[in-house]
Amino acid sequence: MDITDKRVLITGGASGIGWALAERLLAAGCRVMICDFNEQALDETAKLNLPDLAVCFCDVSDRSQVERLAEDTWQALGGVDLLFANAGVGVPLSPLLQQEDDHARWVFEVNFFGAWNTIQVFAPRMLSQGTPCHFTVTGSENSICVPAPLLGAYNASKHAVLGLTETLDIETPEFFGVSILCPALVATNIAASLTRIPESYGGPVAVPAGAGGRGFTPEQVADSALAGVQAGDFYIFSHHCNTSMIESRMNQQLATIGRQTSADDGSDIIDTGPMLGGLFKQLSACNMDQAKADSDG
Ligand SMILES: NC(=O)c1ccc[n+]([C@@H]2O[C@H](COP(=O)([O-])OP(=O)(O)OC[C@H]3O[C@@H](n4cnc5c(N)ncnc54)[C@H](O)[C@@H]3O)[C@@H](O)[C@H]2O)c1
Repeated sequence: MDITDKRVLITGGASGIGWALAERLLAAGCRVMICDFNEQALDETAKLNLPDLAVCFCDVSDRSQVERLAEDTWQALGGVDLLFANAGVGVPLSPLLQQEDDHARWVFEVNFFGAWNTIQVFAPRMLSQGTPCHFTVTGSENSICVPAPLLGAYNASKHAVLGLTETLDIETPEFFGVSILCPALVATNIAASLTRIPESYGGPVAVPAGAGGRGFTPEQVADSALAGVQAGDFYIFSHHCNTSMIESRMNQQLATIGRQTSADDGSDIIDTGPMLGGLFKQLSACNMDQAKADSDG
């Protein structure tokens, strides 16, 4: 996917990885809409008065706000060729068995349902354009492995995002590219997201001074993201250190399935891939017939 002179939407674009993506895409001649729910950060980017940048308030966990964002984006850009569903929050560090239910619900509202809402609202519009486009969801190293304790709900939300994004990939046509960006530690403001936990999810949590200062720069990760989109890769990695974690999980799964099952157990005839793949094709054909009938009459 070419990334020059495109129409771009970036959620959570006022800070960190999202803003680094915006800067690079503006430099590549794109027109960029960023949305965020941090009004102060949005104001600061709006004050830059960049001619090809539009900014918009949106809480991606709220479906009606995402629908309004789509209206505003089409008004401003006339469509979207590249979308980065990047908005995300952290979770207060805690052993799983002491993690607050409210915090788990909040991290799912933003990290999972934020991506869900963005996909549900924007993907049909982008598909109906009928031109090459690309949808990138920011997952994490926590999408592909569990790199550390104390992040149980975050790990779960980012694994959920992987399942969602991979399903989008296998259910959309070739011209609709899909990627999941899986960075490890990045030096951004994500720790400060805890100071903005809404009262309905338990309210703000204080963050220790200096939290969030370590890791690759957001610009390094934006460069990896854009290289991955250009290459058409589904998985986009930015940190080589994740290699051993990936190997270890995969080797553990292969060794265990090899020991626990045998190749002639007959399970190939009930393999869900081909079974549901056929049903998906039938349902898609019915939907296309219905859409044609609607447009004809
Ligand atoms: N920083 C890391 O170490 C790291 C590692 C892997 C993945 N990530 C992921 O990268 C993405 C970007 O995070 P970042 O590290 O750049 O942090 P960041 O806090 O600098 O940027 C995230 C932006 O998303 C916005 N946002 C949060 N909730 C929102 C909502 N409900 N609606 C709209 N905007 C919202 C924030 O206001 C912020 O501007 C997140 O999805 C995060 O989970 C971060």
